[in-house]
Amino acid sequence: MEDLRLNSSKLGTEEYWNNFYKKELNNFQENSEDEGECWFDDSDAESKMIEFLIQKINNGDIDKTELSILDLGTGNGHLLYQMTEEFSEELEVEVKVSMKGIDYSPDSIDFAQKLNTKYQTDIKFQQVDLLNETLDETYDIILDKGTFDAIALNQDIVRDNKIGMDIYPEKVIQLMRPGTIFLITSCNFTEEELTKIMTSHGLRVWDQITYPTFEFGGVKGTTICSIAFIR
Ligand SMILES: C[S@@+](CC[C@H](N)C(=O)[O-])C[C@H]1O[C@@H](n2cnc3c(N)ncnc32)[C@H](O)[C@@H]1O
Repeated sequence: MEDLRLNSSKLGTEEYWNNFYKKELNNFQENSEDEGECWFDDSDAESKMIEFLIQKINNGDIDKTELSILDLGTGNGHLLYQMTEEFSEELEVEVKVSMKGIDYSPDSIDFAQKLNTKYQTDIKFQQVDLLNETLDETYDIILDKGTFDAIALNQDIVRDNKIGMDIYPEKVIQLMRPGTIFLITSCNFTEEELTKIMTSHGLRVWDQITYPTFEFGGVKGTTICSIAFIR
């Protein structure tokens, strides 16, 4: 995937995210209405990802009585908090849902846990470096909103001459079992690029979310893409 590499950026470093969530946590402690940045808010990605899953559960495409959900690079955990609320209002079938958010930034986990006192949920948060640690569990649904994008902005070798974006798909597949849905939203890769990266590691495209398209210089595109892969 050498042709798909991005330039390095500070957004690919742990130091950046620690400082970022430290500030976000401070802001929240000063004003509990300020829950911080919600990535890809301008494209309404969070609502669209949640609505996508609600429809799949309600129409039986995701047909389970228990669902375990893992959010990779959870940040402030907002996606999971919002999902808990919308699931409770809009799911038409009885499903027992358990959720976990992981992030390598201790400040992100601290912040996400602080929000837990506000929302009073059972969501679990754990500090995990996705590229260098292993969770001994598999999940029914795995979410990524902006995390693969951040990982791809770091060109440092992690191991075996591989950078983070080469290792990421292998690590995600370890968290999947047959039938697991991996729903990922990216702004740094096009639909074709993301599909190429994930399918080259053995995943299949299951479905995707549609966003409004723009046309520039005769080329059609969207600013972000969300694709659901299946193992
Ligand atoms: C663009 S932010 C997205 C945060 C959140 N998903 C959202 O939508 O608001 C990228 C997140 O990925 C996390 N991250 C980056 N590399 C990671 C890694 N190797 N393991 C775990 N988390 C990572 C960062 O700490 C940050 O919270």
